[in-house]
Order: sequence, then C-alpha cells, then structure tokens
Amino acid sequence: MERRWWMLLMIIMCLSFVGSSARGLEIMHKVHSPLYNHTLATILVEYASAVYISDLTDLFTWTCSRCDGLTKGFEVVEIIVDVQNCLQAFVGVADDLDAIVIAFRGTQETSIQNWIEDLFWKQLDFDYPGCTDGKVHHGFFNAYNNTVVRSGILDGVSRAREIYGDLKIMVTGHSMGGAMAAFCGLDLELIYGSENVQVMTFGQPRIGNAAFASYYISVVPNTFRVTHEHDMVPHLPPYYQFFPQKTYHHFPREVWVYNLGLGFLIYEVEKICDDSGEDPDCSR
Ligand SMILES: *[C@@H]1O[C@H](CO)[C@@H](O)[C@H](O)[C@H]1NC(C)=O
Ligand SMILES: *[C@@H]1O[C@H](CO)[C@@H](O)[C@H](O)[C@H]1NC(C)=O
Repeated sequence: MERRWWMLLMIIMCLSFVGSSARGLEIMHKVHSPLYNHTLATILVEYASAVYISDLTDLFTWTCSRCDGLTKGFEVVEIIVDVQNCLQAFVGVADDLDAIVIAFRGTQETSIQNWIEDLFWKQLDFDYPGCTDGKVHHGFFNAYNNTVVRSGILDGVSRAREIYGDLKIMVTGHSMGGAMAAFCGLDLELIYGSENVQVMTFGQPRIGNAAFASYYISVVPNTFRVTHEHDMVPHLPPYYQFFPQKTYHHFPREVWVYNLGLGFLIYEVEKICDDSGEDPDCSR
C-alpha cells in the first residue's frame, strides 16, 4: 500500500516537472517569436506603397496621392535615390508608431522576375560575424550595400535619432524593395542592437540559402514576410530539385494573406504559416 502511494507521488512529481518545463519552453518560444500584428501590417504596406511615388517634392513634403490615410503626418527625414540603378528609399519618423520608418521601392513585377532568374546563380558568401556557410543573392545584397542606399539610410537614421531620440526602427518594402529591406534590417540590427529593429516585407523573394535564413531569424527575430496568393515573386521556385547546393530559402515567419484587392494593399484575412519559412501550405 505504502509503495503504491510512493509511486503515485513520483508520478505526480514527474508530471508537474514535465508541465513546468513545457511552460518554460512556451515562454522561450514566445520570446523568440514576436506576434504578427495585422494592424501594423496595414500601416506599413502603405509606406511600402508610397515609396513608389516618383515626384520627390510631393514625397518629401508627404503630400503625394498615397501620403495619406494611415500614414498621415509622417515626417520625411531623408530620400535616397539612385537613378543609375533605379533605386529609391526613404527614412522618416511616424509619430503614431513612435518609430523611424524606412521603406524601399521594388521594381516592376515582370522585370524583377526576369531579373531574379538571370541573377539567381550568382551567389555571394555572406561572412558576417556568426554566420557560417551563409550565401546570399549577389544582386539584392549589392543593391543595398554597395550603392548610395546604405550610406543614405544610415545617415537618415542617425539624423532622425538626433532629432527625435532613440526610437525603434521599422523597415519595409515590396518585392525587390522587400529584399533590400531585409538586408537593411539585418545591418541596422547589427549596428543598433536588438529590440530596436523590426522588419516587415511584402512579396519578398528569397535572398539567401538555408544557413543564411536561420542566421537571419536568430539576429532579427522580429521579422515577418507577408505574402499573398497573386504575387509571383515569392513563388519563384527554390530550384532544389536541380541544384541542391544552390537552393535559396525563405526566412521564417511568413504570413500569407488571401483575397487582396488593388495593388498590394491588404484587405483580407491572414494565415500565419509555420516557422520553417517554407511551409508547403503557404506561399509555395
Ligand atoms: C499593433 O500595432 C498597432 C500599430 O502600431 C498598435 O497600436 C497596437 O498596439 C499593436 N497591437 C499589439 C497587440 O501589439
Ligand atoms: C558592405 O558595405 C561596406 C561599406 O558600406 C563595406 O565595408 C563592405 O565590404 C560591404 N560588404 C560586401 C560584402 O560587399
């Protein structure tokens, strides 16, 4: 009899230990997985849309046709234009988000598709501290890192911080602009440290291999890649059936949005995909 009680006590102790470590894991998971905020996505997609405006005066004074609605009152600090490489970005301060917002313009859907396929095979070793065997898309990385864009962004961010203080930074962009936003977010995270940088991209193509993808999410955990069913760019095949060593991988935290309306503005419900970055039920 006594023995049975003893056994029961052991079982209860074991169960409560399992329970508490499961809770521990859950908490750890939460720390590493920030929640997707759809309200924020609807705001950031408007910034990602406004950066396509080519009238720079309207953009700078935030009076352009897309400079309204959820982004009203945005203060532009810096506009970066690289005419030769057809790149455009801005840095500014959104009072209601209490954040510096950086947005990158993409290219036309049709041209980016050709462009990705052309440049797909040219990979760059990504030898940032802590990243082993990482390879990234040479063209996207260079567009951010080795043009006027990087210095313009860093300059804009430090000026914004001088004026407005130590605000958090939100980086966004659509299509190729999303790829540049991703590289920018990583760069800023390494410069300014964690909890400060959030990345949310729309219709972003793959930018690096699996080693790069897992490195990325460990450095910039607050990263979301929003995709919708009509967007070609993120669906471009990962090519692993042909050349496993050349395979690119999405980084985790994908959100798939259904039933979109005009352009790439979000209207409908979203599905949060698994954390693998390549959830077969999502954008693939
Ligand atoms: C989502 O983002 C909006 C806009 O930044 C913010 O007002 C709201 O508090 C956020 N919601 C959560 C649950 O964090
Ligand atoms: C990225 O740009 C910085 C200077 O802005 C440069 O020092 C570094 O070498 C560049 N990285 C690559 C891989 O080209």
